[in-house]
Amino acid sequence: MCGIVGYIGDKSAADILMDGLKQLEYRGYDSSGVALMETDKIDIYKAEGKLQNLNDILFMNRDKIVGSTLGIGHIRWATHGAPTVVNAHPHTCNCGGVAIVHNGIIENFKELREKLEAQGCTFRSQTDTETVAHLIAKKYSLCKDLTEAVRLASKEIDGAFALCVMHKDHPNKMVITKRNAPLLVGIGEGEFFAASDVPAIIKYTKKAVYLKDNQIATLTRDDMQIIDTDNNSIFFTPEILPWEPVALSKMGYKHFMLKEIHEQPSVVRNILAGKLHSIDSEIALDEVKLDKSTLKNLNRIQIIACGTSLHAAMVGKYIIESFCDIAVDVEASSEYIYRKTVTNENTLVIGVSQSGETADTLTAIKQSKAKGSHILIITNRPDSAMAREADSLISVNAGIEVSVAATKSYMAQLLSFYLLALKMAEVKGSLDDSLLKTLKSELMVLPQKLEQILVHKEDIQQCAKIYANTKDFIFIARGVNYPTALEGALKLKEISYINATGYPAGELKHGPIAMLDESMPVLSILMKGTVYDKILSNSEESKARNARMIALTNSTDDKLNTLFDFVIRIPEIQEYLSPLLAIVPLQLLAYYIAEFLGKDVDQPRNLAKSVTVE
Ligand code: M6R
Repeated sequence: MCGIVGYIGDKSAADILMDGLKQLEYRGYDSSGVALMETDKIDIYKAEGKLQNLNDILFMNRDKIVGSTLGIGHIRWATHGAPTVVNAHPHTCNCGGVAIVHNGIIENFKELREKLEAQGCTFRSQTDTETVAHLIAKKYSLCKDLTEAVRLASKEIDGAFALCVMHKDHPNKMVITKRNAPLLVGIGEGEFFAASDVPAIIKYTKKAVYLKDNQIATLTRDDMQIIDTDNNSIFFTPEILPWEPVALSKMGYKHFMLKEIHEQPSVVRNILAGKLHSIDSEIALDEVKLDKSTLKNLNRIQIIACGTSLHAAMVGKYIIESFCDIAVDVEASSEYIYRKTVTNENTLVIGVSQSGETADTLTAIKQSKAKGSHILIITNRPDSAMAREADSLISVNAGIEVSVAATKSYMAQLLSFYLLALKMAEVKGSLDDSLLKTLKSELMVLPQKLEQILVHKEDIQQCAKIYANTKDFIFIARGVNYPTALEGALKLKEISYINATGYPAGELKHGPIAMLDESMPVLSILMKGTVYDKILSNSEESKARNARMIALTNSTDDKLNTLFDFVIRIPEIQEYLSPLLAIVPLQLLAYYIAEFLGKDVDQPRNLAKSVTVE
């Protein structure tokens, strides 16, 4: 995680760096810092906590910093060392000559640190990054060439890194490099911008170069040179970023999360407009670059993802198996990468990721690609590292999601899976025609049904008030909505810090039921269809243990008012499609509980939107 920025040009570096860091806050908000080139020295400013704290410090030093036109900046999600000022980046060598910012993890930092300490370096922080500052300084002391020092140092470090480096003796130079972490260079007129991600630079330039692993770029005000670690010059062609600067605004909502929940009907409308034209026409999904006969004969799919994307993947498994008769495995990327997997050229591997940068998923994708599998990426960021690995790419088009808690991107991922499963079913002829048409026609009215749920959000707000002060929460469901229970629980725990768990309803009696008493809320996801009666029985069992019962249902049965203390009703929908509706009240419930408890909804503690470390 972490976000890095760099600037060299003729404008105020502090302003550009702070602007860039603001756009990268989704990558972490434990601490932040900038290094600014002054005459003959580098000044460092750091602050613990949110970026605003650094802003306040820079404001107080305005007169001192305003003339600086070269600098680097960092926003941190702590990995090694607590989120304190001393551990905040930039880090420097002992004489203060070298300053660096880093995103990633230096895996051999302990060995390097011991070696550097033996050579006389004094460490001030607990970070892995500080070793790199000392290492570059050591190399520089021998070769007196900053690019060469970075090149030599990069050969000695293992792990993942994106680095911006400056040296007090080089007021017209910044050196950057990367391995397994994102870094791009924005090219302006007499200026260059370095950043972990596009939003930090797009306001200034659309012309950019994505640095590749093990490349080292040397930026001066009027030139950029790229070499590799073997000192070969690299020819590069800048690309034009297909982005427009977006002013990130809450549009009158109290939080981005609430705004993003409310954007879901329009996200669905936009996706459907391009892909589902009528119940009689084929799903338009040309992004899937598998020919019809390969699609038809596929017999194994693996889906890999993390967090909320993993829950979307679980729904994907359920519907692909149901509609297409193809065996699907779903696995958390972090588990997939450290075991022997039976993946080969006959496996379709689907990677799902909002950010397209999640380190575990990216590594898993690279591993399966090396085994010859066709890689299909479902992401909200078609410009991401994962997208660049894709043989087929479904861009979910949810728009920028600012809140750390994923909501509209989950909706867009789910819908992408439905469209993919229906497309594959069309090709295979594996789904009954009338069911295919029913599903298509119900998808076409999905936006209106989502809107109906949002119109009645006060009911959910009321429910949130009743249950906000609980310590634990259980969500139960079966079948296609088991992932909905997991996602509802994840939303609640990540923004309210309530210990929430999702269970397959049938599993309750195998252990979790022991936890039930009059203090435990149990929310049953009761969608009409094959497993409705079964969940009703499981709800009865919970009621018999005095649990506080909540129903989320699309049934109009009045009897539910007797069994449950609180009933949240949503519109009817075909059972297979019900996860698309059922998740919305759960997002709202989590939101209102967190808001009621006064939590930092958009930036919950310990989390980051983009998890770029394994
Ligand atoms: O960007 P990704 O979808 O790969 O991210 C995966 C998870 O880190 C992410 O879904 C996380 O669980 C969210 N905070 C959930 O709201």
